[in-house]
Parts: sequence; C-alpha cells; structure tokens
Amino acid sequence: MAFPESFLQELKARNDITEIVSSYVSLKRRGRNMVGLCPFHSEKTPSFNIYTENGSFYCFGCGVGGDVISFIMKIENLDYVEAVKFLAQRAGMELPDSGYDDSMSKLRRRVFEANREAARFYYATLISPKGAKGLEYFRGRCLSDKTIRRFGLGFADDDWSSLCNHLKQKGFSENEIVAANLGVKRRNGNGIYDRFTNRVIFPIIDVRGNVIAFGGRIMTDEKPKYLNTSDTPVFKKSANLFSLNNAKSSGSRTLILCEGYMDVIAVNQAGFQNAVATLGTALTVEQALLMKRYADEVIICYDADEAGQKATARAIPILRNAGLDIRVLTVPNGKDPDEFIRSHGADGATAFKLLIDKSGNDIEYRLNKLKSKYNVELADGKVSFLKDASKVIATISSPIERDVYISKLSSELSVDKNAIVKQVNSIARRNGKEEYKKEITNIQKNLSRQTDKIDTEHHKKPRSSSAEESLVVFLINNPDYAKIISDAVSPDKFQNTLMRRYYTYVLDRINNGLDPLTNIAADFTSDEASYLYRIMSRSVKSASTESAMYEYINVINEESQKLSNKDIADMSSEQINDYLKKIRKNKQ
Ligand code: CTP
Ligand code: MN
Repeated sequence: MAFPESFLQELKARNDITEIVSSYVSLKRRGRNMVGLCPFHSEKTPSFNIYTENGSFYCFGCGVGGDVISFIMKIENLDYVEAVKFLAQRAGMELPDSGYDDSMSKLRRRVFEANREAARFYYATLISPKGAKGLEYFRGRCLSDKTIRRFGLGFADDDWSSLCNHLKQKGFSENEIVAANLGVKRRNGNGIYDRFTNRVIFPIIDVRGNVIAFGGRIMTDEKPKYLNTSDTPVFKKSANLFSLNNAKSSGSRTLILCEGYMDVIAVNQAGFQNAVATLGTALTVEQALLMKRYADEVIICYDADEAGQKATARAIPILRNAGLDIRVLTVPNGKDPDEFIRSHGADGATAFKLLIDKSGNDIEYRLNKLKSKYNVELADGKVSFLKDASKVIATISSPIERDVYISKLSSELSVDKNAIVKQVNSIARRNGKEEYKKEITNIQKNLSRQTDKIDTEHHKKPRSSSAEESLVVFLINNPDYAKIISDAVSPDKFQNTLMRRYYTYVLDRINNGLDPLTNIAADFTSDEASYLYRIMSRSVKSASTESAMYEYINVINEESQKLSNKDIADMSSEQINDYLKKIRKNKQ
C-alpha cells in the first residue's frame, strides 16, 4: 500500500531537495553537487552531499542517505506517512484520500492524543481537591499560578488507576495507553495500571506543540526523585529537550541550558523564556544538534556542585562540535539556578540577569578552572599552567580569538608572547592532523565494509557482490537497459540477498513504467534505503558505460556457477563431473 506514483513524483518535484535541506543545513556548491555539515552527526569538515541530479543526499561520514522524504523523516523525527504529509502541506498539495498504510502514524497520533488528554487530566487533578498536596508542593517552591498554567504542570494521585480509567473512558485502548507509557501492563497479564502515581507532573512538549512525554517528581525525599516516560513511538529521551517549545517562541538565538525541570521553570518565571534542560541524561550529540537548529549560542547553567562542573566539562566539546558558541554561567554558593533565584526573592530576576551578563565564554571558563588548580606565583606552577592553557587555546579555530587569549595570558603572567604562540601552534597542528585523520578514518570505515551491519554478506563474496551492486546502480541510472539486463541475469543469479532484493525491486518498478526510486523510503527500511544511496553515491562515471555493464553481467554469471567448498565436499563424484563439464562448456 502506497501513495500513488504520480502524487509522489509531483511531491518530489515541488519539494526541491536543495531548498528543503538548506533550511536546516547551510550548503555550499561543489561541482554539480552541494555539500554541508551533516545534521545527523557532528563533524568539522563537510561530508554531507546533496545530489541535485537525482534528488538524493548521502553523508560519507555517518552513512545516512536517501531522498527528500527520508531527509524529512530523519530531521523532523516523523514516520513515512507523516513526512509525506509534511511535504504535501509545504507544497500546498492535497493528500490522496486513502490507499496508504498509515498504521504507524495512526498509533503515533493516538499516543499524541492520549498524552494531550493525560496532560489535561493531570492539570485538572492538580487544581481539584485531590491535587491539594501537589499544588501545595509547587507553591512551596514559589511557583505562581501563572507559571503552573503556562507549563501545564499537573498531579498524579495515588489511586494507581485514575488516569488509565479516564483514558479508557475517553476511548483509548489499553494498547494505546501502554504504547504511550502512561499505563503499564500488570505482570499477571490482567489489565494495566498508571505509570505515574503520587507525583507532581511536568509535561514535555515538542516544538510543534505536541505533548510527547512526562516527568514526575516525588514530593518527599524518596527515590527515585524523578520518573520519566520511557522511550515511546513519539519520544526518545536522548533526542529531546524540556521546554524547547517555549525557548523556540522566545525569539532569542541564545539558549540557557539547565540541568533540570525546576531550574528551567524558575528561570522562566524570572523572565527568561529561552531555558531548556536535558531529561535526566548527560547531554547528547543529538540534543546539541537540535539546539543548533534554534540557536547560535548556549549558556551552560548547570549546578555549581562537582557533578554539575563535570557535566559542564563534558558538554563544552559536544556543543562546540555542533557549531554553537558557548558561555558558562557560574551560580555562586553551590546552588542550582532554581535555589539561587528563589534565595533572592523579589530580586531573583535581576540577580540572575547579572549572572548571565557576567558569564564568560567556555575558553575563559576553562582557563579560570585551570588557573585555580595551580599556584602561578611559583615558576613551576606557571609553567604547568601555561602548558595546559595552551592546550585549551589550541582548540580555538579563529586566529583572532586565539590571539586575544594569548596576549591576555602573556601580560597576566609576564611571559613572552611568542613563546606561547609557538606552543599553541604546535599543539594545534598536532590536533588538526589527528582530527582530520579521525574524520578520514571514519569515512573510510564507512566506505569499506568492515563495520557493515546492513549488507552482512558482502565480505563473504566480494567479487560477485561488487558486480551485483554495480549492476543495480547501472540499472537505476540506465532504465533503458532493463530488458537487456533482465534477459542476461535472472535475480536468482544474485548471491547477495540484499542486492537481489534491490535488483528485483528496481527491475519490477522499471517494467511497470515507474521511476525506480520514487517510493524507496516506503518500501525499504531507512537503513536499507541509506545503503542503496551509499552504493549509488560511490559509483564512478567509468562504471556506467555499456561495456562496464557487460563486464558486471559476466562476473555475476560466472560467480553464480561457482560452488562453495562446502557444496563441493557434499557432492558425489558424478555430480562433480557434471559440474566441471558445465563450466568447460561455458568457457568456450
Ligand atoms: N533526574 C531524573 N531522575 C532522577 C534524578 C534527576 O531524571 N532520579 C533529572 C531530572 O530531569 C532533574 C535533573 O535530572 O530535573 C536534575 O536533577 P537534580 O539536580 O537532582 O534535581 P533538580 O532539578 O534540582 O530537582 P529539584 O530541585 O526538584 O530537587
Ligand atoms: Mn533543584
């Protein structure tokens, strides 16, 4: 079941891949193609390619590839049908009535609806007599009614079935409730019970306004302090941020990155809408890339305790690699931002603003940290500090910025500027080489099959697999040859299962008068589709001539007659004789 071919073709024609991708990634022209930094992994040199000719993309660094639909699926975190709808809407096209399989998007839609209903229910409970404890808790933490409403905070009572019953009454099935992780199956298999009980509730809302998950805090010192929705069809903890919806509409290109729910809410209440938090995990590359879509700069605002400082040190390179500018805000007296703001009462907002204004960039932060480790009054300490400091400065790519810090250090410590410059340059050269090597190794690994999880058979029969691959690519690029090719090579001659599937699929599409790739994102998994784009983007011009095609056909036919050692060991002498005869005949 799929969308009509003509619809998909028009959809692709009206959604130019270069135009779509450039609204997420800044692209530069390279030859006939466009390149940019990959939005799906963090890198410093661009290996993300757009092939305008056939409307596809492929990243040599991380191996992701596809067409404009696969791109939207990945970057907007949508399933196939949702991505098609997204693009149709963008191009002002009507969706065909039915005929497509949207069971997964239906489930996702139901999970969104269940979540929205749950959020309403938790909020209604909070402001009802049943929620008195929760409301008291939030008030005790100085949240105003306005803030509570703005964040849609709620309360889960300790009934173990309130929410499940409510959702069932609203028409949600047990399956849907469990899929949303709002209810959990009983061990004895008999029915379901509420996932959150006796906790205050924080809904997590994405940039499109969908309620995607919840966090629940216990109101005592019991553990676990916070409970979060597990990963569901609409939620992946490591790829989302709390309050990004508010931050996005703040209009600021700076984000304040906090550790927890309460910090974000307190910072918001103090007037800064642009705060976000990770959801109980250390900052991930995915989250950094997500921030990069809405911001140019991040102010790290973690707790002042040791854990918070460690997390800051870990977050800095992740954010930097994502291309974000960084400032680090230090909350005094070991407090977290929420406690700091509260401790200043009515002046909380002003006091916090001062901290923001005072926050230095990540380099200053790291240099200060280092300086406090050494006694720079002593020659020994000075030397050690300068060595470490040079390493930090060497990570800066802008020469002007580097010069600023070197000059500052040289005058502060009365050390010859040229000596520091030399030290920094030699470290930078080494780093640069290593980093370049790392990215190249990554690309090579991706190009070779060493780590291949998709095509697991290539290394077993490299000769036939390579020829099969090349023939598939040739066929896609030269559909006019379909008849010649299919007469010469039947699919059962293919030894590589995945190549045989591509081959059968592409032939079938061409024979039905269809473009080979229009529906690829629906008919293959995203890894399999990426893999096909990978072999296509690797193929070279010389591999696309008619004589090359005949060579592939020969190799495939020849290889298909070879038997494995095991086959031969299992044969009778008569069978072996027959086999040899057959080969000799073919060679003539
Ligand atoms: N967290 C979690 N699970 C836990 C503890 C913490 O998911 N068992 C996450 C929450 O997102 C929390 C963040 O880590 O907001 C920071 O934890 P912590 O500093 O312990 O909590 P606070 O945000 O300070 O929460 P509170 O002020 O309510 O104590
Ligand atoms: Mn706190």
